[in-house]
Amino acid sequence: LFPWAQIRLPTAVTPVRYDLTLHPNLTSMTFRGSVTISLQALQATWNIILHSTGHNISRVTFMTAVSSQEKEVDVLEYPLHEQIAIVAPETLLEGHNYTLKIEYSANISSSYYGFYGISYRDESNEKKYFAATQFEPLAARSAFPCFDEPAFKATFVIRIKRDEQYTALSNMPKKSSVVLEDGLVQDEFFESVKMSTYLVAFIVGEMKNLSQDVNGTLVSIYAVPEKIGQVQHALETTVKLLDFYQSYFEIQYPLKKLDLVAIPDFEAGAMENWGLLTFREETLLYDANTSSVADRKLVTKVIAHELAHQWFGNLVTMQWWNDVWLNEGFATFMEYFSLEKIFGELSSYEDFLDARFKTMKKDSLNSSHPISSSSVESSEQIEEMFDSLSYFKGASLLLMLKTYLSEDIFQHAIILYLHNHSYTSIHSDDLWDSFNEFTNKTLDVKKMMRTWTLQKGFPLVTVQRKGKQILVQQERFCLNVKPEIQPSDASSLWHIPLSYITDGKNYSKHRSVSLLDKKSGVINLTEEVQWIKVNTNMTGYYIVHYADDNWEALIKQLKINPYVLSDKDRANLINNIFELAGLGKVSLQRAFDLIDYLRNETYTAPISEALFQTELIYNLLDKLGHVDLASRLVNKVFKLLQSQIQQQTWTDEGTPSTRELRSVLLDFACAHRLENCSAAALKLFFDWMASNGTQSLPTDVMTTVFKAGAKTEGGWSFLLSKYVSLGSEAEKNKILEALASSEDVRKLYWFHLGSYTIQSIVAGSTHLFATKAHLSEVQAFFENQSEATFRLRCVQEALEVIQLNMQWVEKNLKTLTYWL
Ligand code: BES
Ligand code: ZN
Repeated sequence: LFPWAQIRLPTAVTPVRYDLTLHPNLTSMTFRGSVTISLQALQATWNIILHSTGHNISRVTFMTAVSSQEKEVDVLEYPLHEQIAIVAPETLLEGHNYTLKIEYSANISSSYYGFYGISYRDESNEKKYFAATQFEPLAARSAFPCFDEPAFKATFVIRIKRDEQYTALSNMPKKSSVVLEDGLVQDEFFESVKMSTYLVAFIVGEMKNLSQDVNGTLVSIYAVPEKIGQVQHALETTVKLLDFYQSYFEIQYPLKKLDLVAIPDFEAGAMENWGLLTFREETLLYDANTSSVADRKLVTKVIAHELAHQWFGNLVTMQWWNDVWLNEGFATFMEYFSLEKIFGELSSYEDFLDARFKTMKKDSLNSSHPISSSSVESSEQIEEMFDSLSYFKGASLLLMLKTYLSEDIFQHAIILYLHNHSYTSIHSDDLWDSFNEFTNKTLDVKKMMRTWTLQKGFPLVTVQRKGKQILVQQERFCLNVKPEIQPSDASSLWHIPLSYITDGKNYSKHRSVSLLDKKSGVINLTEEVQWIKVNTNMTGYYIVHYADDNWEALIKQLKINPYVLSDKDRANLINNIFELAGLGKVSLQRAFDLIDYLRNETYTAPISEALFQTELIYNLLDKLGHVDLASRLVNKVFKLLQSQIQQQTWTDEGTPSTRELRSVLLDFACAHRLENCSAAALKLFFDWMASNGTQSLPTDVMTTVFKAGAKTEGGWSFLLSKYVSLGSEAEKNKILEALASSEDVRKLYWFHLGSYTIQSIVAGSTHLFATKAHLSEVQAFFENQSEATFRLRCVQEALEVIQLNMQWVEKNLKTLTYWL
């Protein structure tokens, strides 16, 4: 009988150090392993319970520190919980140390999870083998028996046996390399710092690297040999970011080396294994001929994100996966923050703003959840925590807090937090406690932030002017499927930093802020104003509605001179008014009135948001078969943006922001066959095809050009042939998007349930359905998979979105028909 019934491990025994030797065979896809675990008993106990799955265990021995005599012991397995139990030959005594040695063999995984193997073809079409790890969240246990929970931190010594042509990498620098009698080479790596199991990593493959020393840390970018020409940008970026983080956090990166590896086949975008960051090729490699400005930003952002984890996540780790937002939210926040600070020309604030819009849309569903939730145990529940809320709501809340407290206090609080909790694991409250050290009891940050992390959703702030008085009140912004049955939760209350600007002379220059911690409140202005815009630059995580004629006043101001408001504020107004129209708080007509000023808009953020909102409506109409209405909508929007579209050229000229605007506008124009956009795109495509794909295309419009080509019979096949043979991941992705913009069905069966990948596939393939028939089809589809599938949060979200779409159409179709 297995002596332990819970999913979580007991805490009586804790690992101190792992000694792990692995011998993988990349062609047979198997490996042999041996792990020696030094343990300490924190309480007296008989059993040692730890994780292990898929291992064929051949021998387990046990040793006490005093006798140093090995005793072979029995092992019990409980596959359902991926646990094994070792019944010790004697009682383990509190405070005493013991050693456990486990010998085993296993398969190298053929998914992208655990210790996995892949094969690929090199330039000369030769088959190559490669093995890498992806342990987060729960797969370290499939590579070696271990205490696979983030709070069990220990040190690791790793040895790998490999064939001589391969390079082996792990978290730490290589200590020694010895040739064994059978011609194999064994690499040993230095003992690691104290860390969680999910951060352990090793890689075996044929690679080349480019390196640079940064104050005693050797930074290297690795790729398969034929792609070594694409690593320069990553190296420069990493060096700058490493410098930035070390000085911003006032903590040195603790290892002597930092490797970033482009893996030929990788499920996630990237992974922050300590000292050994792993990436997809597209998120690390940069190819000057085919990478667009968006690709360059992606590489920069992903490096910034994974590097931030070396402090947030690796040095200081959440106790348990329910608080994964502490890892991912912070890394995401730092990603935008560091880019703003050292790559300002990339205007990454535009992406952050857009991410906030998308996140709030998701968070306004009834099926949303608090980012710090309490009941997280099963593997699906854990994987589900890695959703866009943990990343972007987490990051948005930190932005709100930073703006409210000032950049200075914010920085000092996180420096304190990192110093106090290095090499340990924490709860959300530990973070807020560090902030409270700096707010001198004038503000309880913990109390304030708990209202945001422990509740789902976010507030709708309704503003009403009464002379010099501004009345404000809050309620949950909730898109209810059946408002009459589920009234929006009256008990929700947030502590909201309210910032605002007005046209009054006392307010326009500086921002004013006050905290709304009750259901309603009053802001007293010193003068009467024409308009007020609350939530300056949308640094607050809430939507604002104006109950009086203030919407009119803002619409008027946008028409007279939009540039009184920042581009963030303009994009924010567009976003809020369309979201409010979805809620029925303002008419869709008024939302369209507001975007009428777009004729005079030149900035990327407001134009992209307006296009996003109107395209959503277009797609709904189109899917429902209202083809005529849909095309009239496009024409209206086109009228608004015509002059901006006409100004575009098919080049890569301009700032990153204007280049991204160009790809958005030309893609819109081509998708709807406006102007002579498709003709221009097709001409570029056929010239490119005639050169057999060697002539270079402007990178920012490359996808648009490929999409135009993919619509033709010969074009699609040509793109497919290029896709198979090309060396640049950036170019392949653009081709893939074009190929898929036609018709394609993909096999998706290898993705694990709940994973990030599954979430985006489910949402992406259902979010435009708006009929009863589609609703039942989707419902039946998922019900027929398995109960666990149907229970997935993303499935529930999908069903809710479809019902909301149905309601939206019911509510707005008349107005729309009239307006169009
Ligand atoms: N820690 C994650 C990778 C991860 C995601 C592991 C989900 C397990 C489950 C990593 O730091 C990450 O966030 N990667 C992102 C890219 C990032 C730049 C947003 C990803 O994989 O999408
Ligand atoms: Zn991350």
